[in-house]
Amino acid sequence: MLRSFFIAMSRNKGFRQFSERSAVGRKLSSRFVAGMTVEEVLAAAEAVNREGIAATLDSLGESVTSAAQARASAAIYTQLIEAIRARGLNANVSVKLSQMGMEFDPALAEEIVAGMVAQADAAGSFVRIDMEGSEYTEATVAMTERLAAHWPGRVGTVLQAYLYRTAEDVARLTGQGIRIRLCKGAYKESAEVAFPLKADVDKNYVELMLRLAGSGVFCGMATHDEAIIDRMRAEVVAGRVARDAFEFQMLYGVRRDLQRKLAAEGYGVRVYIPFGTEWYPYFMRRLAERPANVLFLAKNLFKN
Ligand code: FDA
Repeated sequence: MLRSFFIAMSRNKGFRQFSERSAVGRKLSSRFVAGMTVEEVLAAAEAVNREGIAATLDSLGESVTSAAQARASAAIYTQLIEAIRARGLNANVSVKLSQMGMEFDPALAEEIVAGMVAQADAAGSFVRIDMEGSEYTEATVAMTERLAAHWPGRVGTVLQAYLYRTAEDVARLTGQGIRIRLCKGAYKESAEVAFPLKADVDKNYVELMLRLAGSGVFCGMATHDEAIIDRMRAEVVAGRVARDAFEFQMLYGVRRDLQRKLAAEGYGVRVYIPFGTEWYPYFMRRLAERPANVLFLAKNLFKN
């Protein structure tokens, strides 16, 4: 129930405006968001790189409503890809299609993301297209296929274990050598398209993770679920999966202890680092995943 509440709140415009402008809101969000500026996110990436952990940088913002906003969002990515190259960071970028105009002009979104992938290609980097609500799954998968046909190995997307269709998408994309990040899924979906029970999502995640690990395509296992991570480690220890056939991916500010432990064990680990003034929907989805975070954040707020 709390999950639905926070997901509903993530779309509340009034509370969003109030929170993004308030000093308290910014302070609370700093647990999961690496700052408001490009310089701050680059510093955060440098810091995780020093611990042997890779990064993927996300300029927060979604559901833009004009071409000018979409192009302004894209300009930040141009800056990020260039800075990653210039500073030699072990990092790439993650981008949301709704931030690039997908909701009102899919051709514009594709043109913009194609420009990013071309830039990443020239810089020897990679663009990950995040996955949003299920109304965009097919369009996102299809766009990724078109871009990957042009720039193989430079673009990949995200698949969500809560969707029934994902098993087919895994086969479809790995069949073309396209890199996938597997996550459980963070949006509100109906039982018509997604498993309603968490136990079924977790079971599907494990099945798909093992399939990806054996696919020959380098993929990202994005989860903080220790039971699932342990299952993957057991596969490696048993010699059924090569340690370098995949990487673990986690969110900035979540289970830092586990991130470091896995990196120390020689696993590839990548942290998803979001930044920017439009942090509100992202932050609310993190609370939806773990409502206990509200108590944790409130305690820290009054500590200093
Ligand atoms: P689960 O929710 O079962 O949590 C397992 C355990 O992890 C919890 O018991 C807790 O200990 C810890 N944990 C999980 N979330 C936490 C939080 N917010 N704060 C503190 N502890 C937490 N989704 C999507 O729909 N599209 C996308 O593109 C992406 N991209 C993405 C990238 C990366 C790198 C990650 C890690 C995740 C995503 N997600 C995503 C989000 C994903 O779908 C999912 O909502 C979260 O990862 C939470 O699910 P877990 O797999 O961690 O398991």
